[in-house]
Parts: sequence; C-alpha cells; structure tokens
Amino acid sequence: MATAAVTQEFQKFAVKPLTPGIGAEIAGIDLGEHLPDETIAEIRQALLTYKVIFFRDQDITQEQHITFGRRFGQLEIHPATPDDQQHPEIFHLRTRTEQLPDVAGRRIGANVWHSDVSWRAEPSLGSILMGRTIPEVGGDTMWADMVAAYEGLSPAMKEWASTLTAVHDGSIFAVLAGNSRESFWENFPMQEHPLVRTHPETGERALYVNAAFTMNIKGLSTKESDWLLDHLFEQAAIPEYQVRFRWQKNSIAFWDNRACQHYAVGDYAPAARDMERVTVIGDRPFFDPQR
Ligand code: SIN
Repeated sequence: MATAAVTQEFQKFAVKPLTPGIGAEIAGIDLGEHLPDETIAEIRQALLTYKVIFFRDQDITQEQHITFGRRFGQLEIHPATPDDQQHPEIFHLRTRTEQLPDVAGRRIGANVWHSDVSWRAEPSLGSILMGRTIPEVGGDTMWADMVAAYEGLSPAMKEWASTLTAVHDGSIFAVLAGNSRESFWENFPMQEHPLVRTHPETGERALYVNAAFTMNIKGLSTKESDWLLDHLFEQAAIPEYQVRFRWQKNSIAFWDNRACQHYAVGDYAPAARDMERVTVIGDRPFFDPQR
C-alpha cells in the first residue's frame, strides 16, 4: 500500500495523520483569515500527501468559504444549484435520509462511492466541505485512497486497466430534479476518461472509476464491462484504503478528487445533516505511460 509521507515537515500548522495511508487532521490555522501564499502552498502540499485533510472549529461564513476555495483555483457551479441562490458556488447537501430517492429498496444520495463531478470534461481538483448541522450520532464520511487501490491490483490487471477508457454520466441529477436525461446531456454530454489517471501534480497513478457516475468501459461487451467495473468499484470498499471522519459543527474536510473517492454514510434518519461544499475545478484526466 502507498504510505503517505508521515514524516513530512509542515511549518505553518500541526498535522496529525489519521491512518498510515490517507487522511490527516490539521490544527493551528484559521481558514477565515487571509492566509499568506506560503500557508496556502503548505495546505496544498498536505492535500497532495494525505489526499483528504480535516480542520476543526472553523466558524466561517459562506463568503469566507468561497474565498478560501478560490485560493486553490476556479470554483464550479453545480447544475443542481438553483439559479437564484445568493452564492451559486456553494453546493448545498441538505440531507434528510428518509427523503432520498429509493433506488431498489435503498435510499441513495451521497452514500455511494464517488469522485465529485467525474462526469465533467474537466472534473474537480478538490472539494471543500463544511459541516453546518451534524447529527448527534452518525452521518460520518469515508474516503478511499484510489492510488493505493490501483497499487493493490495485480500487475496484469494494472497493465490492462491502464489501456482502458470509461464513460461517465451525471444525468442522475436531471432525473432527481424531474427533468429528462437528454436535457442534461445538452450541457453536460457523457465524458470519456481513462480508467487509470496520472495525477497532474504528484505523477501517481490512481484508479479513476466510481460507482455513482461510471457507466461502462469502451470496447468491452456489457457483461465484460459490468464484471470489470464491479471488481474495480469494490476496491474503494477495502478498509485498508480508507479513513472515516466523525463530523462536528464547523468541521471542514478538503479532499483531492483526483486521488480519492468518498462515501457519506446514510445512517442518521430522522436527524438532519446540512453540509455546504465548494468545488475547485480541475483539469482533464489523462494517463501518462511514462510516469
Ligand atoms: C459529497 O458527496 O460531496 C458530500 C459528502 C458528504 O456529505 O459527506
């Protein structure tokens, strides 16, 4: 398994790794302040090292959340965001488990392993999620290290997967809003991305398919594609690749969508859980056989 550089020195804040491979808690920093460029560079380095980083007790406004997010790149506006929302960059996840759509007897929301907006031509670099209302118990989020998941495949599977391309589709958001899939595809056509992507900053290889948005693998029969995708989706569920975070009000999680996937555990009905996310736009996934 790939091990995060737990000995790495950070000058601007304290870092406590939560597992040997993924996730670290960062203390001694106020994200509501205007942070110097060197601090932002260290946060970015911590994100690359640990793939998901956590901050506690960040009582920041929506404006401060947006300002912090913009230090890492342009922010997207999610198509499910209402046109008249005051800050369209904030993506609200206001979940009442019992109101989630029932898919084959299971309430489905963010409780599916996914990498945010992999259905975009240029999917997200990273997501910054703020806990506003947190259930007394439950409602944790889990992340899986998809670099470790790739590393854990057999040599033959790694080699084969690296030659393949998958189709990603986000039209479920249109369906949930009562619109047709075709209306979604007019603005966000299905996208083809490599099954294994090279991280543009670290050069690491990560498995880049997810159970929420990856539909099929090009060039394989439906049966072959379903079989291989099921096998690869299952990699995210391996506990050794995971970290699990217990939210508190004003906790923030910042994760690298290019290197990990996440799953919001839907175990807290009838409690409320309100989260706000800003999502930093990334670049087009690629596979570089030389790196
Ligand atoms: C998300 O999928 O971006 C949200 C995860 C969560 O609500 O914990």
